Amino acid sequence: MRIVRAKDYQDMSEKAAHMIAEQIRRKPDCVLGLATGSTPEGIYEKLAEWYRAGKLDFARVTTVNLDEYKGLDRGNVHSYYHYMQEKLFARVNIRTDRTFVPDGMAQDSDRACREYDGIIAAAGGVDLQLLGLGHNGHIGFNEPGTDFEIQTHCVNLTESTVRANRRFFSSMEEVPGQAYTMGIGTIMQAAGIVMAVSGEDKAEILKTAVCGPVTTMVPASVLQLHRNVTIIADEAALSLVGNDGQAS
Ligand code: GLP
Repeated sequence: MRIVRAKDYQDMSEKAAHMIAEQIRRKPDCVLGLATGSTPEGIYEKLAEWYRAGKLDFARVTTVNLDEYKGLDRGNVHSYYHYMQEKLFARVNIRTDRTFVPDGMAQDSDRACREYDGIIAAAGGVDLQLLGLGHNGHIGFNEPGTDFEIQTHCVNLTESTVRANRRFFSSMEEVPGQAYTMGIGTIMQAAGIVMAVSGEDKAEILKTAVCGPVTTMVPASVLQLHRNVTIIADEAALSLVGNDGQAS
C-alpha cells in the first residue's frame, strides 16, 4: 500500500488526477473505475481542465462507475448518473456509449447486477479504480459486514450512510435506502486502485482502514490485501497515520 501525503484538498485532487491522467496517457483505451461523492469533485475538475487545455484525450477511454441509488432514474439530479454527466462526462470528449453507471431503475435487480459485471469483463477489466472512503469504512456502497468476495449487488444502506448523504437531498425521506454497487470482489479485481481521502472527519476511519486489522467490519481494510493500491490523502485525513504508515 503506497501512501501519498497531500497538503490539502486541492493538492490531493491534483495528485489523484495526475495518476488518472498518467493511466490515460499510458493506455489511451483504458478502463477507469469512477467514484462519486464530494471527494472526487476536485479530481474531475482537474481532468476537465487538462482536457480543455489539450493535455488529455478521453476519446478511447471507457468508464465504469462504482454505484448508483436504486429507484433514481438518470434524469434525477440526485442520481450518480447525473453527477457524472455534470462533473466529468459532459466536460470532456468521452463517448457516452463508453460510460457505464449501474441502472437505478432496473426491473430485475439480480440480472442487472450480472449484466454490470459482464460489462466490466467485456471491457477487459478495470485498469485503475478510483475510490472514496465512507465514514464507516465503506467503499462504493459496500457497508460494514459485506463479504469480500461479492460482485455487483444491491444493498440496503446503513442509517449512517443515509445520514451522511442527506446533505445532497432536501430531506432524509428523499435519500434512497438502497443502492447498486460494485462488490468488494469486483473492486479488488482492478489492476490498480487509487483511494482519495480528505478532511479531519476521515482521519479516524482512514487510520483504522490502513493500520488496523483486515476485517469485513471495515470494508476499506481489504485494500491492504491488494498489490497495487495508492492512497492519496491530505494532511488532515492522515493526521493519525505516521510517515511510516503506522498509527501515530
Ligand atoms: C458515498 C459513495 C461512495 C463515496 C463515499 C464517500 O456514499 N457511495 O462511493 O466514496 O460515500 O463520500 P464523500 O467523498 O462525499 O465523503
